[in-house]
Amino acid sequence: MLSEKMNDALNVQANRELYSSYLYLSMSYHFESVNMKGFAHWMRLQAGEELVHTMKMLDYVAGKGGKARMLAVEAPRFTWDSPLQAFQHVWDHERVVTGLIKTLVKVAEEELDEETTEFLQWYIKEQVEEEESSDSVLSKVKAAGNDKGALEAADRLLGQRSFRFPRGFEIFPK
Ligand SMILES: [Fe+2]
Ligand SMILES: [Fe+2]
Repeated sequence: MLSEKMNDALNVQANRELYSSYLYLSMSYHFESVNMKGFAHWMRLQAGEELVHTMKMLDYVAGKGGKARMLAVEAPRFTWDSPLQAFQHVWDHERVVTGLIKTLVKVAEEELDEETTEFLQWYIKEQVEEEESSDSVLSKVKAAGNDKGALEAADRLLGQRSFRFPRGFEIFPK
């Protein structure tokens, strides 16, 4: 059984994961609007991943007999001056999320909740990957600078990203 404090903290984090999904969806439509289809595709898949993070956390809460509550989702911004600004935003955002997950682990430890501490290790590992992938895109966009050809090449490369919803999280059937 989750303590009330743990239940609340997990609900708040699930909300931040959903906000991440909303933010990346916002970036996806922004890139669509400026005809950068590859960047838009990458962001759309990223939004899907964040939705999985949201549901995985709420599934855990519900599975432990807790209450999965949907909190209001903050509205993200909807325009960015350049791919560089957008990917800098992604990188900054992921680092903030890593901090939130670490704080959540501390709450679980304080609550002497070993199962939740263990469960959150998946998110700790995921954040390492998220930071790595956003850093790698940010480096490419930085290297491209204002070179239109290099930006188009980065756009094409990101357009090749693939992602499948893991079993149990299939939202958009093929
Ligand atoms: Fe996430
Ligand atoms: Fe993320």
